[in-house]
Amino acid sequence: MSFIHPLADVAEASIGEGTKVWQFVVILKGATIGRDCNICAQTLIEGDVVVGDRVTVKSGVQLWDGTRIEDDVFIGPNVTLTNDPYPRSKEYPERFSGVIIKRNASIGANATLLPGIEIGENAMVGAGAVVTKHVPRGAVVAGNPAKILRYVEGAQGNAKVENMQNHLNDTTRHDTTRHDTTRHDTTRHDTTRHDTTD
Ligand SMILES: CC(C)(COP(=O)(O)OP(=O)(O)OC[C@H]1O[C@@H](n2cnc3c(N)ncnc32)[C@H](O)[C@@H]1OP(=O)(O)O)[C@@H](O)C(=O)NCCC(=O)NCCS
Repeated sequence: MSFIHPLADVAEASIGEGTKVWQFVVILKGATIGRDCNICAQTLIEGDVVVGDRVTVKSGVQLWDGTRIEDDVFIGPNVTLTNDPYPRSKEYPERFSGVIIKRNASIGANATLLPGIEIGENAMVGAGAVVTKHVPRGAVVAGNPAKILRYVEGAQGNAKVENMQNHLNDTTRHDTTRHDTTRHDTTRHDTTRHDTTD
């Protein structure tokens, strides 16, 4: 059974066994969150978002439409994800370019990930980084714009033989097709609360 704190505002979303959702979290209708996750206080998760198992989302994070988070990811406090490369008020793209974070990657506090960025498996993003390009698997990146500092020991795998320069120069971003161009607002769509017991 999942635990939803009574002060959280959770719409009709799929929330896995053992996941904890803390105070002042807002989860919009349609979001999918896996098992044994920890969704810390004051986070916002929009409806077209998929979060895997055993994911930690620290406080002050928003997961916007189009975001895909794989298993065992850590998202530090106040990390900013984005999904619209050229935002204008009241103008909505046909599809949002959500951030993709692959298995076991970690994002340091207050990092900013630009739209459509993919963070590779096991990668580590430093605190305060501004990530403007895809991050290869196992890379440790930091700075603004983020650059590769080194690779996580043992996690490099075939990434070692990839042409890093090409990787970093690859400006193609992943677009996550949005099935519905209506933006979700942050009001409550559904008053059904999930069980608040553990
Ligand atoms: C990116 C990180 C993993 C690198 O750790 P590391 O490999 O041990 O790196 P080091 O401390 O040896 O630093 C290596 C160099 O990178 C620089 N550096 C390290 N982290 C940096 C960061 N976040 N931004 C900019 N530069 C950074 C250091 O100043 C150092 O530069 P120098 O060689 O010119 O002296 C770590 O610094 C970090 O930011 N961790 C995330 C912490 C966090 O946000 N936790 C959230 C949960 S509380």
